[in-house]
Amino acid sequence: MGEAERAAGRVASVMQEARVFPPSAEFSRRARIGSLEEYRRLCAAAAADPEAFWDERARELPWIRPYTRVLDWQPPDVRWFVDGRINVSAVCLDRHVAAGRGGKTALVWVGEPAGERRTLSYAELHAEVCRFAAGLRALGVRPGQVVSIYMPMTPELVVAMLACARIGAVHSVIFGGFSSEAIADRNHDANAVAVITADGGWRRGAQLNLKKNVDQALASPHHPPTTVKHVVVLRRTGQPVEMVAGRDVWWHDLVAGQPADLPPEPMDSEDPLFILYTSGSTGKPKGIKHTTAGYILWAQTTAEWVFDLRDDDLFWCTADCGWITGHSYVTYGPLAAGASVLIYEGAPNAPHEGRFWEIVEQERPTIFYTAPTAIRSFMKWGMQHITGRDLSSLRLLGTVGEGINPEAWMWYHDVIGARRCPIVDTWWQTETGGIMMSPLPGCTPTKPGSCTLPLPGVSPQIVDAAGDPVEPGEGGWLVMTRPWPGMLRGVWGDDERFRETYWSKVPGKYLAGDNARQDADGYYWIMGRIDDVLNVAGHRLSTIEIESALVSHPSVAEAAAVGRPHDVKGEAVAVFVTLRSGEPGEALQDTLRRHVRQQIGALAVPDDIHFAAALPKTRSGKIMRRLLRDIAAGRETVGDTTTLEDYTVLANLRGHDE
Ligand code: WT7
Repeated sequence: MGEAERAAGRVASVMQEARVFPPSAEFSRRARIGSLEEYRRLCAAAAADPEAFWDERARELPWIRPYTRVLDWQPPDVRWFVDGRINVSAVCLDRHVAAGRGGKTALVWVGEPAGERRTLSYAELHAEVCRFAAGLRALGVRPGQVVSIYMPMTPELVVAMLACARIGAVHSVIFGGFSSEAIADRNHDANAVAVITADGGWRRGAQLNLKKNVDQALASPHHPPTTVKHVVVLRRTGQPVEMVAGRDVWWHDLVAGQPADLPPEPMDSEDPLFILYTSGSTGKPKGIKHTTAGYILWAQTTAEWVFDLRDDDLFWCTADCGWITGHSYVTYGPLAAGASVLIYEGAPNAPHEGRFWEIVEQERPTIFYTAPTAIRSFMKWGMQHITGRDLSSLRLLGTVGEGINPEAWMWYHDVIGARRCPIVDTWWQTETGGIMMSPLPGCTPTKPGSCTLPLPGVSPQIVDAAGDPVEPGEGGWLVMTRPWPGMLRGVWGDDERFRETYWSKVPGKYLAGDNARQDADGYYWIMGRIDDVLNVAGHRLSTIEIESALVSHPSVAEAAAVGRPHDVKGEAVAVFVTLRSGEPGEALQDTLRRHVRQQIGALAVPDDIHFAAALPKTRSGKIMRRLLRDIAAGRETVGDTTTLEDYTVLANLRGHDE
């Protein structure tokens, strides 16, 4: 980060720091952590003796065999709750049913088509999970094998995740917006043995062709012959699909006649629970590996602390289970905590832009957790969709995925929260498994735009490139100095990449990949990524991935992708391409957009495509991204350009802007 950006960050933050919102008295009275003293006491206890601290919490889990050691930390390798045996589906289901809470609502599901709604109690969800788990086992799926899940947001997506956990299969959920090539990449990287999908899903009134994408992925000519032997298909939309004999089976046929009770597989604490692919700064997406006991303890504990879950809550996290937020705060955290969870299948603007508020009015969720990009869309869509809606059930609001700009924070607070709901701005990552920094609604004064303070047991530090802590108030790299139960255990099949990405630049500490600074109160302010990772509408995208997709098109010689500011999405994707063939113009732009959609998915489609005669490079051949970022943002180019290989390049770029 340059000095100018650092200074700008300082000024902006100092201005924001002026506004402080005290915690609500209602929360302070009733929350688990009801005062700053209590919060500090927990932090001190976790720091003084992490093993005793986590032992006390892990004891509450339903162990099949107790662990013999709390922690074995040999950076970067960690084992939590060594030698313990436990099953995550039993943590989320069986223990609640056994405690007499089987009748409590586990899931309330609202479909996109008007009027579609289902609820499942904990006992019903337990039975569904057992039947489907037995079906998977009957197909021959064994513990440790990887099962891909490519489904719409239906109760069956949650069932599929928990059923994998029940039989010890490792799930890899692939967001329904990804293309067949992206599915093929992930299946191939993980050696998936089965794919669970649906005929289709609803998105803004249209039917997604999920099964067709899976068929194409399994036949991808760009990959070795597939390892996938079985495809399970949920009938969701009823659209016609082709079933391949011997490979494909309908969900309803698979579960027919299966038992409603299936004993959970006793898993080792460190057996993998799931992998989830996420973009990094280089190459293909990496499969982030999470394991069993530490992950579920982290998901449950953070859900209870941050959202202050109570027995009568209805928790609505709007994320899709294709992302880590959906893993930890739709499925695992709230269900482990025994909460009632609301899930909605469709888009926030279908069939109209007030859909979320209509759902709040009808279903009366008490906690609402969404992304800043969604909040900025609501602001843009206007008050007419909100005024007159009864939002009085809400008592707590949350955000995640990117920093929230203070304007959006204030709007969320005033309009959705009616100035009475605390806002928790939660900082975390796919890699961290769960929330790491966030206000606690019963005790933390909030400042719009800051994720405030670490949770007990979380040890952030801001360091310089030498790994030394920076002066108070200075920006630097965000690292974690100590292990936490929910941390990633590796990159699937790529130990080297795990070590290189997270542990090599600052030896012995976890490098998050974000820049951050701390203010005078010790509050953390996230200042963006240190690498070439973009955050588009809360989705993590790698510039290299987009560039690779573009150059795989025969017309493209070279490509550079950068982010530019966007008022709703946070960042938009701008690409610069030089051509091998074809004419610059709208037709080729359309072709390239379609190509990226096909290679990765709709979420990666560039907003701007600039055709260039050549790309600006340093003498050593590195593309000058700073320059391109300035051009993409429409800013005047600043700073030193003397290392440009060719000064005419700059003029060429500008001259060929479409
Ligand atoms: C990156 C992680 C965490 C689940 C969703 C995203 C950015 C996330 C915040 C926040 C500022 C944030 C960071 C982080 N980020 N939450 N509250 N304030 N930035 O997970 O796809 O793994 O992305 O999202 O840059 O590194 P992810």
